[in-house]
Amino acid sequence: MQKLIINGGKKLCGEIRTQGSKNAALPIMAAAVLCGEKVVLHNCPKISDVYSAMRILTYLGCKASFDGNTAVINSENISCSEISEELMREMRSSIFFLGAVLGRTGRCRLSLPGGCDLGPRPVDIHLSALRKMGVRIKEEYGGLDCSVEKKLTGAKIALSFPSVGATENIILAAVLAEGTTVISNAAREPEIADLADFLNRCGAKIHGAGGSRITINGVKQLHGCEYEIMPDRIACATYLACTASAGGELIVTDCRPSDMENILPVFEQMGCIVHALDSKIFFSAKYPLHAVAPIRTMVYPGFPTDAQAFVMAALCRAKGTSVFVENIFENRYKHVGGLTRMGADILVEGKVAVIEGTPRLYGVKTEAPDLRGGAGLVTAALAAEGTSEISAVHHIDRGYEEIEKVLTSVGADIKRI
Ligand code: UD1
Repeated sequence: MQKLIINGGKKLCGEIRTQGSKNAALPIMAAAVLCGEKVVLHNCPKISDVYSAMRILTYLGCKASFDGNTAVINSENISCSEISEELMREMRSSIFFLGAVLGRTGRCRLSLPGGCDLGPRPVDIHLSALRKMGVRIKEEYGGLDCSVEKKLTGAKIALSFPSVGATENIILAAVLAEGTTVISNAAREPEIADLADFLNRCGAKIHGAGGSRITINGVKQLHGCEYEIMPDRIACATYLACTASAGGELIVTDCRPSDMENILPVFEQMGCIVHALDSKIFFSAKYPLHAVAPIRTMVYPGFPTDAQAFVMAALCRAKGTSVFVENIFENRYKHVGGLTRMGADILVEGKVAVIEGTPRLYGVKTEAPDLRGGAGLVTAALAAEGTSEISAVHHIDRGYEEIEKVLTSVGADIKRI
């Protein structure tokens, strides 16, 4: 089992290029199934979730290769509309293949997806929308057998909650459906607009993505294209949190600060200096950090649940009391155990976590509980006195491209064993 060994207390200084977005790349890779031609995706992050998506594409009969940060996918000869349980278990985003495979073949058999254990992660909103579009769904033994009687048909779908995955799955199912689909109360995350931009480049007719009302006019077929995946706002924010935590000055390039207006002000409240200019962020940490006003995780454009763990980690040494309210997932404080073992003073009561800043953290042996929780432990370990050993690095590798190399390049003392 791989571990990260971190000797804390080194300031971070230098320049980091933002990786491509995981949460944009995964639905776009599933969308390639709909195109029936060659798709070239640039700026694809080299992370294990992307490799899992490549394996699913190959299983379905697509030609899929990955070189540097470019994925080439050709879905001309799809031979299968079933995805094995083993592949579905590898990540939550495997569920995107449901909308895409149904849209392409009218049939899809798969089991319920795996991914980070953040509490219950049902797919009822996905399924009730697909049913409205004419999909018959048999749920049996943890699996789904979905088929379309004649053709997928457009429908008016009002989401009970603006689920990111459900919004994307509906878009995927709707682009080749007969007629018009209108999604109201759609999720507004920037990655949804990226998926729609990609599909429109392939000939789809999607309007309003990025807003809460999305209209999809079904088209007869799509074609291939070349596309550049958007930058990863969560990875970018992670490296800012690492710098806030350890101290130092960082320039992050190739990012999109306009997508981060829900996170950057929190770093300013901590006392850090944040200058965003075009696709760059100039960041300077000022010791001591200050506690911030209560943070409530919300759907976009609210504060992202994906940033909760590493922002909390940075606040462990801030002066004063910070409060988090986690509103999106039931079980997303699993990093708190590791942080408190490092000496952080955190009280969790249901959805609420209260952090009393302490001047020092200490290196310990701990385990990444999930993807962002693991990033939170790395954030804290960079500021801790002594050596930390973080195991279960496979969780972190799901979303971060070579995290130890990126951090080493800006002065951290971190290695993988
Ligand atoms: C996506 C992101 C993930 C992020 C999350 C919330 C990707 C690949 N993943 O996950 O990084 O943390 O958005 O911003 O983009 N829910 C239901 N029924 C459903 C669907 C969702 O009850 O059918 C609930 C979930 O259990 C959860 C909440 O809605 O409590 C948010 O889920 P959703 O927006 O669907 O998140 P994901 O698409 O899984």
